[in-house]
Amino acid sequence: MARSPSDGPRPDVLVVGGGIIGLGVAWRAAQRGLAVTVLDPAPGGGAARVAAGMLAPVTELQYGEEPLLRLGMASNERYAAFAAELTDATGLDTGYRRTGTLAVALDSDDREELRELHAFHGRLGLTSHWLTGRECRRLEPMLAPGVRGGLHVTDDHQVDGRRLATALVEACRRAGAVLHRERAAELLVDDGRATGVRLDGGEVLTAGQVVLAAGSYSHLLNGLPPGVLPAIRPVKGQVLRLHVPSAYRPFLARNVRAVVRGQHIYLVPRADGELVVGATTEEQGHDTTVTAGGVYELLRDAHELVPGITELPLVETGAGLRPGSPDNAPLLGPTALPGLVAATGHYRNGVLLTPVTADLVAAYLATGSVPELAEPFSPSRFHLKALA
Ligand code: GLY
Repeated sequence: MARSPSDGPRPDVLVVGGGIIGLGVAWRAAQRGLAVTVLDPAPGGGAARVAAGMLAPVTELQYGEEPLLRLGMASNERYAAFAAELTDATGLDTGYRRTGTLAVALDSDDREELRELHAFHGRLGLTSHWLTGRECRRLEPMLAPGVRGGLHVTDDHQVDGRRLATALVEACRRAGAVLHRERAAELLVDDGRATGVRLDGGEVLTAGQVVLAAGSYSHLLNGLPPGVLPAIRPVKGQVLRLHVPSAYRPFLARNVRAVVRGQHIYLVPRADGELVVGATTEEQGHDTTVTAGGVYELLRDAHELVPGITELPLVETGAGLRPGSPDNAPLLGPTALPGLVAATGHYRNGVLLTPVTADLVAAYLATGSVPELAEPFSPSRFHLKALA
Protein backbone atom coordinates (compact mmCIF):
# COMPACT_ATOMS: atom_id res chain seq x y z
CA MET A 1 0.00 0.00 0.00
CA ALA A 2 1.29 3.49 -0.83
CA ARG A 3 2.47 5.50 2.17
CA SER A 4 1.01 8.92 2.90
CA PRO A 5 3.23 12.02 3.24
CA SER A 6 2.21 12.34 6.88
CA ASP A 7 3.65 8.85 7.57
CA GLY A 8 7.23 9.95 7.16
CA PRO A 9 9.65 12.83 7.60
CA ARG A 10 9.63 15.86 5.29
CA PRO A 11 10.72 14.65 1.83
CA ASP A 12 13.85 15.98 0.15
CA VAL A 13 11.94 16.30 -3.11
CA LEU A 14 8.29 16.89 -3.88
CA VAL A 15 7.36 16.25 -7.52
CA VAL A 16 4.21 18.03 -8.66
CA GLY A 17 2.80 15.95 -11.52
CA GLY A 18 2.95 12.16 -11.92
CA GLY A 19 3.10 11.84 -15.70
CA ILE A 20 6.08 10.00 -17.18
CA ILE A 21 8.39 13.02 -16.76
CA GLY A 22 7.57 13.49 -13.06
CA LEU A 23 7.72 9.75 -12.40
CA GLY A 24 11.03 9.37 -14.23
CA VAL A 25 12.58 12.17 -12.17
CA ALA A 26 11.12 10.70 -8.96
CA TRP A 27 12.46 7.22 -9.75
CA ARG A 28 15.97 8.41 -10.51
CA ALA A 29 15.98 10.78 -7.49
CA ALA A 30 14.84 7.95 -5.18
CA GLN A 31 17.59 5.73 -6.62
CA ARG A 32 20.08 8.44 -5.62
CA GLY A 33 18.92 8.11 -2.01
CA LEU A 34 16.63 11.15 -1.87
CA ALA A 35 13.28 10.91 -0.06
CA VAL A 36 10.71 11.65 -2.77
CA THR A 37 6.97 12.28 -2.83
CA VAL A 38 4.98 12.51 -6.08
CA LEU A 39 1.72 14.42 -6.07
CA ASP A 40 -0.90 13.49 -8.63
CA PRO A 41 -4.54 12.40 -8.37
CA ALA A 42 -3.85 9.73 -11.03
CA PRO A 43 -0.13 8.88 -11.27
CA GLY A 44 0.83 7.44 -14.65
CA GLY A 45 -1.85 9.44 -16.46
CA GLY A 46 -1.32 12.40 -18.76
CA ALA A 47 -0.29 12.78 -22.37
CA ALA A 48 1.78 9.55 -22.44
CA ARG A 49 -1.45 7.55 -22.31
CA VAL A 50 -2.44 9.02 -25.66
CA ALA A 51 0.99 9.36 -27.32
CA ALA A 52 2.08 6.95 -30.05
CA GLY A 53 5.50 6.60 -28.43
CA MET A 54 7.70 7.22 -31.45
CA LEU A 55 11.34 7.75 -30.46
CA ALA A 56 12.31 9.74 -33.52
CA PRO A 57 14.92 12.46 -32.92
CA VAL A 58 16.31 12.05 -36.46
CA THR A 59 13.05 11.73 -38.42
CA GLU A 60 11.40 14.60 -36.52
CA LEU A 61 14.43 16.91 -36.74
CA GLN A 62 13.51 20.58 -37.27
CA TYR A 63 15.85 23.26 -38.63
CA GLY A 64 17.37 25.41 -35.87
CA GLU A 65 16.78 22.78 -33.17
CA GLU A 66 20.28 21.28 -33.00
CA PRO A 67 20.53 21.53 -29.15
CA LEU A 68 17.22 19.67 -28.92
CA LEU A 69 18.56 17.08 -31.37
CA ARG A 70 21.57 16.54 -29.07
CA LEU A 71 19.24 16.01 -26.10
CA GLY A 72 16.94 13.72 -28.11
CA MET A 73 19.85 11.64 -29.40
CA ALA A 74 21.23 11.31 -25.86
CA SER A 75 17.83 10.11 -24.64
CA ASN A 76 17.38 7.72 -27.58
CA GLU A 77 20.80 6.20 -26.82
CA ARG A 78 19.76 5.67 -23.18
CA TYR A 79 16.38 4.12 -24.02
CA ALA A 80 17.30 0.45 -24.35
CA ALA A 81 19.10 0.42 -20.99
CA PHE A 82 16.38 2.56 -19.34
CA ALA A 83 13.64 0.19 -20.53
CA ALA A 84 15.63 -2.90 -19.51
CA GLU A 85 16.30 -1.44 -16.06
CA LEU A 86 12.61 -0.63 -15.61
CA THR A 87 11.68 -4.19 -16.56
CA ASP A 88 14.32 -5.62 -14.21
CA ALA A 89 13.02 -3.42 -11.39
CA THR A 90 9.31 -4.14 -11.90
CA GLY A 91 8.85 -7.26 -14.03
CA LEU A 92 6.81 -5.10 -16.44
CA ASP A 93 7.39 -4.73 -20.16
CA THR A 94 7.57 -1.17 -21.57
CA GLY A 95 6.92 -2.14 -25.20
CA TYR A 96 10.31 -0.74 -26.26
CA ARG A 97 10.96 -2.02 -29.80
CA ARG A 98 13.89 -1.34 -32.10
CA THR A 99 11.82 -1.09 -35.27
CA GLY A 100 13.36 1.87 -37.08
CA THR A 101 11.25 4.42 -38.95
CA LEU A 102 10.37 4.95 -42.61
CA ALA A 103 9.37 8.49 -43.63
CA VAL A 104 7.74 8.48 -47.06
CA ALA A 105 6.76 11.04 -49.69
CA LEU A 106 3.44 10.89 -51.53
CA ASP A 107 3.98 13.65 -54.09
CA SER A 108 6.89 15.57 -55.57
CA ASP A 109 6.68 18.38 -52.98
CA ASP A 110 6.83 15.83 -50.16
CA ARG A 111 9.78 14.17 -51.89
CA GLU A 112 11.59 17.52 -52.10
CA GLU A 113 10.97 18.12 -48.38
CA LEU A 114 12.36 14.69 -47.48
CA ARG A 115 15.35 15.15 -49.81
CA GLU A 116 16.18 18.38 -47.95
CA LEU A 117 15.83 16.59 -44.62
CA HIS A 118 18.15 13.86 -45.91
CA ALA A 119 20.75 16.48 -46.91
CA PHE A 120 20.40 18.12 -43.47
CA HIS A 121 20.96 14.73 -41.84
CA GLY A 122 24.12 14.35 -43.94
CA ARG A 123 25.45 17.77 -42.83
CA LEU A 124 24.92 16.81 -39.18
CA GLY A 125 26.44 13.33 -39.60
CA LEU A 126 23.14 11.55 -38.86
CA THR A 127 22.35 8.15 -40.32
CA SER A 128 19.44 8.03 -42.79
CA HIS A 129 19.13 6.23 -46.10
CA TRP A 130 17.31 7.45 -49.21
CA LEU A 131 15.02 4.82 -50.79
CA THR A 132 13.05 4.79 -54.04
CA GLY A 133 9.29 4.23 -53.90
CA ARG A 134 9.82 0.62 -54.92
CA GLU A 135 12.38 0.12 -52.14
CA CYS A 136 9.98 1.67 -49.62
CA ARG A 137 7.25 -0.77 -50.67
CA ARG A 138 9.67 -3.65 -50.45
CA LEU A 139 10.16 -2.77 -46.77
CA GLU A 140 6.45 -2.03 -46.21
CA PRO A 141 4.26 -3.80 -48.81
CA MET A 142 1.05 -2.20 -47.47
CA LEU A 143 2.17 1.28 -48.59
CA ALA A 144 0.19 2.91 -51.41
CA PRO A 145 1.58 2.35 -54.92
CA GLY A 146 1.90 6.14 -55.30
CA VAL A 147 4.67 6.48 -52.68
CA ARG A 148 7.48 8.40 -54.43
CA GLY A 149 10.41 7.61 -52.15
CA GLY A 150 11.45 7.97 -48.58
CA LEU A 151 13.99 8.01 -45.81
CA HIS A 152 14.83 4.95 -43.79
CA VAL A 153 16.06 5.92 -40.32
CA THR A 154 17.22 2.74 -38.66
CA ASP A 155 17.81 4.21 -35.18
CA ASP A 156 14.40 5.86 -34.57
CA HIS A 157 12.40 3.31 -32.56
CA GLN A 158 9.26 3.13 -30.36
CA VAL A 159 7.99 2.49 -26.84
CA ASP A 160 4.45 2.02 -25.51
CA GLY A 161 3.67 5.13 -23.44
CA ARG A 162 0.99 3.38 -21.40
CA ARG A 163 3.20 0.45 -20.45
CA LEU A 164 6.04 2.86 -19.74
CA ALA A 165 3.85 4.91 -17.38
CA THR A 166 2.63 1.80 -15.56
CA ALA A 167 6.19 0.52 -15.15
CA LEU A 168 7.37 3.91 -13.85
CA VAL A 169 4.61 4.00 -11.20
CA GLU A 170 5.70 0.56 -10.00
CA ALA A 171 9.42 1.43 -10.16
CA CYS A 172 8.80 4.55 -8.05
CA ARG A 173 6.95 2.50 -5.45
CA ARG A 174 9.67 -0.12 -5.30
CA ALA A 175 12.37 2.56 -5.01
CA GLY A 176 10.58 3.98 -1.96
CA ALA A 177 8.97 7.09 -3.49
CA VAL A 178 5.61 8.02 -1.94
CA LEU A 179 2.77 8.43 -4.45
CA HIS A 180 0.24 10.82 -2.97
CA ARG A 181 -3.01 10.84 -4.93
CA GLU A 182 -3.96 14.44 -4.46
CA ARG A 183 -3.71 17.66 -6.44
CA ALA A 184 -1.36 20.49 -5.53
CA ALA A 185 -3.57 23.55 -5.06
CA GLU A 186 -0.91 26.15 -4.28
CA LEU A 187 2.87 26.55 -4.22
CA LEU A 188 4.13 27.79 -0.87
CA VAL A 189 6.89 30.40 -0.93
CA ASP A 190 8.60 31.53 2.23
CA ASP A 191 11.27 34.22 2.33
CA GLY A 192 11.88 33.98 -1.42
CA ARG A 193 12.13 30.19 -1.52
CA ALA A 194 9.69 27.47 -2.59
CA THR A 195 9.03 25.38 0.50
CA GLY A 196 6.22 23.03 -0.52
CA VAL A 197 2.59 23.01 -1.55
CA ARG A 198 -0.87 23.23 -0.08
CA LEU A 199 -2.98 20.29 -1.26
CA ASP A 200 -6.54 20.46 -2.53
CA GLY A 201 -7.74 19.14 0.81
CA GLY A 202 -5.90 21.92 2.71
CA GLU A 203 -3.01 19.78 3.99
CA VAL A 204 0.42 21.42 3.78
CA LEU A 205 3.34 19.40 2.51
CA THR A 206 6.85 20.84 2.75
CA ALA A 207 10.01 19.60 1.05
CA GLY A 208 13.63 20.54 0.48
CA GLN A 209 13.01 21.06 -3.25
CA VAL A 210 9.85 21.18 -5.37
CA VAL A 211 9.90 19.85 -8.94
CA LEU A 212 7.23 21.22 -11.24
CA ALA A 213 6.38 18.51 -13.79
CA ALA A 214 2.75 19.28 -14.50
CA GLY A 215 2.93 19.59 -18.29
CA SER A 216 0.66 22.28 -19.71
CA TYR A 217 -0.67 23.01 -16.20
CA SER A 218 2.77 23.85 -14.77
CA HIS A 219 2.56 27.65 -14.99
CA LEU A 220 -1.04 27.65 -13.69
CA LEU A 221 -0.09 26.50 -10.17
CA ASN A 222 -1.43 29.10 -7.74
CA GLY A 223 1.22 30.90 -5.75
CA LEU A 224 3.85 30.72 -8.49
CA PRO A 225 5.48 34.17 -8.49
CA PRO A 226 5.25 36.05 -11.80
CA GLY A 227 8.30 35.71 -14.02
CA VAL A 228 9.37 32.25 -12.83
CA LEU A 229 7.87 30.14 -15.64
CA PRO A 230 6.64 31.08 -19.11
CA ALA A 231 3.20 29.91 -20.19
CA ILE A 232 3.30 26.26 -21.25
CA ARG A 233 0.67 26.06 -23.95
CA PRO A 234 -1.48 22.96 -24.44
CA VAL A 235 -1.23 21.65 -28.02
CA LYS A 236 -3.92 19.09 -28.63
CA GLY A 237 -3.20 15.90 -30.55
CA GLN A 238 -6.00 13.56 -31.55
CA VAL A 239 -4.90 9.95 -31.97
CA LEU A 240 -6.60 6.74 -33.18
CA ARG A 241 -5.94 3.18 -32.08
CA LEU A 242 -6.72 0.34 -34.49
CA HIS A 243 -6.18 -3.36 -34.10
CA VAL A 244 -4.38 -5.57 -36.61
CA PRO A 245 -5.84 -9.12 -36.39
CA SER A 246 -3.10 -11.76 -36.22
CA ALA A 247 -3.95 -13.07 -39.71
CA TYR A 248 -2.97 -9.62 -41.16
CA ARG A 249 0.35 -9.30 -39.32
CA PRO A 250 2.80 -7.84 -39.86
CA PHE A 251 0.61 -5.14 -41.37
CA LEU A 252 3.46 -2.68 -40.88
CA ALA A 253 6.85 -3.71 -39.50
CA ARG A 254 8.15 -0.27 -38.45
CA ASN A 255 7.00 3.28 -37.68
CA VAL A 256 5.77 4.94 -40.88
CA ARG A 257 5.47 8.71 -41.28
CA ALA A 258 4.45 10.96 -44.12
CA VAL A 259 3.42 14.46 -45.01
CA VAL A 260 0.05 14.31 -46.78
CA ARG A 261 -0.90 17.68 -48.30
CA GLY A 262 1.12 19.43 -45.61
CA GLN A 263 -0.35 17.36 -42.73
CA HIS A 264 2.08 15.17 -40.82
CA ILE A 265 0.81 11.70 -40.09
CA TYR A 266 2.40 8.66 -38.49
CA LEU A 267 1.48 5.03 -37.92
CA VAL A 268 3.13 3.11 -35.09
CA PRO A 269 2.62 -0.68 -35.07
CA ARG A 270 3.01 -2.51 -31.76
CA ALA A 271 3.96 -6.14 -31.20
CA ASP A 272 0.51 -6.90 -29.71
CA GLY A 273 -1.33 -5.78 -32.87
CA GLU A 274 -2.19 -2.25 -31.76
CA LEU A 275 -1.69 0.29 -34.54
CA VAL A 276 -1.56 3.91 -33.37
CA VAL A 277 -2.35 6.64 -35.91
CA GLY A 278 -1.58 10.25 -35.05
CA ALA A 279 -1.84 13.10 -34.74
CA THR A 280 -3.59 16.40 -35.15
CA THR A 281 -1.96 19.63 -33.92
CA GLU A 282 -4.50 22.07 -32.50
CA GLU A 283 -4.09 25.04 -30.17
CA GLN A 284 -7.36 25.71 -28.39
CA GLY A 285 -6.65 25.53 -24.68
CA HIS A 286 -7.19 22.61 -22.33
CA ASP A 287 -9.69 20.87 -24.57
CA THR A 288 -9.43 17.12 -25.18
CA THR A 289 -12.60 16.60 -27.19
CA VAL A 290 -12.29 14.08 -29.98
CA THR A 291 -13.92 15.60 -33.04
CA ALA A 292 -15.43 14.04 -36.14
CA GLY A 293 -13.17 16.32 -38.19
CA GLY A 294 -10.02 15.15 -36.39
CA VAL A 295 -10.89 11.47 -36.84
CA TYR A 296 -11.86 12.07 -40.47
CA GLU A 297 -8.57 13.82 -41.31
CA LEU A 298 -6.45 11.12 -39.68
CA LEU A 299 -8.32 8.30 -41.42
CA ARG A 300 -8.35 10.11 -44.77
CA ASP A 301 -4.58 10.72 -44.69
CA ALA A 302 -3.76 7.28 -43.26
CA HIS A 303 -5.88 5.69 -45.99
CA GLU A 304 -4.00 7.60 -48.67
CA LEU A 305 -0.71 6.33 -47.20
CA VAL A 306 -1.80 2.75 -46.38
CA PRO A 307 -5.11 1.97 -48.18
CA GLY A 308 -5.66 -1.33 -46.34
CA ILE A 309 -6.11 0.50 -43.06
CA THR A 310 -9.85 0.90 -43.57
CA GLU A 311 -10.27 -2.89 -43.12
CA LEU A 312 -8.99 -2.74 -39.53
CA PRO A 313 -11.18 -2.40 -36.43
CA LEU A 314 -11.03 1.09 -34.92
CA VAL A 315 -10.86 0.42 -31.18
CA GLU A 316 -10.16 3.78 -29.56
CA THR A 317 -9.97 7.48 -30.18
CA GLY A 318 -8.40 9.98 -27.80
CA ALA A 319 -6.76 13.36 -27.46
CA GLY A 320 -3.77 14.49 -25.40
CA LEU A 321 -2.17 17.84 -24.66
CA ARG A 322 1.46 18.39 -25.61
CA PRO A 323 3.06 20.93 -23.24
CA GLY A 324 4.65 23.56 -25.52
CA SER A 325 7.15 26.10 -24.16
CA PRO A 326 7.72 29.37 -26.09
CA ASP A 327 10.59 27.75 -28.06
CA ASN A 328 9.12 24.21 -28.02
CA ALA A 329 12.11 22.90 -26.03
CA PRO A 330 11.86 21.62 -22.46
CA LEU A 331 12.59 23.50 -19.24
CA LEU A 332 15.06 21.50 -17.19
CA GLY A 333 16.63 22.44 -13.87
CA PRO A 334 16.56 25.26 -11.32
CA THR A 335 14.22 28.21 -11.86
CA ALA A 336 14.69 31.81 -10.73
CA LEU A 337 12.83 30.86 -7.55
CA PRO A 338 15.23 29.04 -5.20
CA GLY A 339 13.91 25.60 -4.26
CA LEU A 340 11.78 25.30 -7.40
CA VAL A 341 13.04 23.03 -10.20
CA ALA A 342 11.36 22.63 -13.61
CA ALA A 343 10.88 19.45 -15.65
CA THR A 344 8.24 20.52 -18.14
CA GLY A 345 7.55 21.92 -21.62
CA HIS A 346 8.58 18.80 -23.55
CA TYR A 347 6.06 19.52 -26.36
CA ARG A 348 6.23 16.72 -28.98
CA ASN A 349 9.10 14.91 -27.27
CA GLY A 350 7.94 13.91 -23.79
CA VAL A 351 8.18 10.18 -24.34
CA LEU A 352 11.52 10.42 -26.14
CA LEU A 353 13.03 12.75 -23.52
CA THR A 354 11.90 10.88 -20.39
CA PRO A 355 15.18 8.96 -19.73
CA VAL A 356 17.48 11.94 -20.22
CA THR A 357 15.18 14.31 -18.29
CA ALA A 358 15.03 11.85 -15.40
CA ASP A 359 18.83 11.52 -15.31
CA LEU A 360 19.62 15.24 -15.66
CA VAL A 361 17.03 16.59 -13.24
CA ALA A 362 17.78 13.90 -10.63
CA ALA A 363 21.49 14.70 -10.96
CA TYR A 364 20.74 18.37 -10.26
CA LEU A 365 18.51 17.49 -7.28
CA ALA A 366 21.20 15.27 -5.77
CA THR A 367 24.26 17.44 -6.45
CA GLY A 368 23.09 21.04 -6.92
CA SER A 369 25.04 21.20 -10.23
CA VAL A 370 23.32 21.49 -13.62
CA PRO A 371 24.74 18.83 -16.00
CA GLU A 372 26.25 20.31 -19.17
CA LEU A 373 23.66 18.60 -21.40
CA ALA A 374 20.87 20.43 -19.54
CA GLU A 375 22.43 23.90 -19.73
CA PRO A 376 20.74 25.00 -23.02
CA PHE A 377 17.37 24.15 -21.43
CA SER A 378 17.60 26.42 -18.40
CA PRO A 379 14.14 27.73 -17.40
CA SER A 380 15.77 31.18 -17.13
CA ARG A 381 16.48 31.42 -20.88
CA PHE A 382 13.22 33.23 -21.64
CA HIS A 383 14.26 36.49 -19.91
CA LEU A 384 10.87 36.83 -18.28
CA LYS A 385 10.04 39.93 -16.28
CA ALA A 386 12.05 39.72 -13.06
CA LEU A 387 10.53 38.32 -9.90
CA ALA A 388 8.37 40.92 -8.15
N1 GLY B 1 5.79 13.36 -31.32
C1 GLY B 1 4.56 13.14 -31.94
C2 GLY B 1 3.54 14.16 -31.74
O1 GLY B 1 3.72 15.09 -30.97
O2 GLY B 1 2.50 14.07 -32.34
